[in-house]
Amino acid sequence: MATPLPVVRSLAEARSARAALTGTVGLVMTMGALHEGHLSLVEQARQRADHVVVSIYVNPLQFGPGEDLDAYPRDLAADLAALEGHGVDLVLAPGDQDVYPREPLVRIDPGPVATVLEGASRPGHFAGVLQVVAKVLSVIRPDVAVFGQKDAQQLALVRTLVADLDLGVEIVGAPIRRDADGLALSSRNAYLSEVERRQALGLVTSLRAAERAADGGADAPAVLRAANETLAASDGVVADYVVLVDPDTFLDVPPDHRGDALAAIAARVGTTRLIDNLRITIDPTRKVTA
Ligand code: PAJ
Repeated sequence: MATPLPVVRSLAEARSARAALTGTVGLVMTMGALHEGHLSLVEQARQRADHVVVSIYVNPLQFGPGEDLDAYPRDLAADLAALEGHGVDLVLAPGDQDVYPREPLVRIDPGPVATVLEGASRPGHFAGVLQVVAKVLSVIRPDVAVFGQKDAQQLALVRTLVADLDLGVEIVGAPIRRDADGLALSSRNAYLSEVERRQALGLVTSLRAAERAADGGADAPAVLRAANETLAASDGVVADYVVLVDPDTFLDVPPDHRGDALAAIAARVGTTRLIDNLRITIDPTRKVTA
């Protein structure tokens, strides 16, 4: 039997457990309901640092009214079992009273990237995310922290937070992990019925249609049209947004755009809101051989 993972339930304990770690530290922040996507982040952290710290905390500050804060899956025992054997040195699983003993007065303004897409659909979401990220980074003081490209806007905002506040941690972006049929892994997939699980494939199918169009030499408007038409034809999927944006600003690319773009989708399948994205290169001058 391997020794059980050290789990600390308060930020104070986390601070002293961290101080006892010698060598470099990699951090992976999660809200639990761990899946292979989270574990791939742990793997990346392990490759980049001597020790790995994983935080598990469903951060109320990043949920809006009417969102799934209460329903969000919480099963610490299952999460610890999932982390077993992955080389994790410390798990931080604090409670609300510990993280926010009172309503925080000093808030982080995440700036313009937080006003579009996820930020527009979920007001206050990114301010809440950056509040808890800043807090955990300051407690754990990692050398490197790994975030998923699945939440592309979050990843960009964390990079900006670290740059603007000189937090001195390297932020690594990890690729999106998908099920064999292409569905992006997400803790929220647990909400889907069998039928909805199939319908949810509409998101990745639509992103891949956009990619195919771009590979065929389509310009930005035609690439976006391919994504929209495919999503509109997907049963049971109600789009929140379908966009082709600049990967840094998250603003729509102009019609004559050349080069990298991010195709991003948010959509509801039943009552579950899902997001997915794909990096696409637009180059209408490319030669397409049949
Ligand atoms: P959560 O949704 O649990 O995600 C934790 C980390 O796992 C994020 O960096 C996310 O981008 C990454 N992730 C999720 N699904 C993934 C997938 N299919 N492939 C690769 N990485 C994936 O994101 C949050 O929690 C919170 O906002 C948090 C950063 C913990 C702050 O509360």
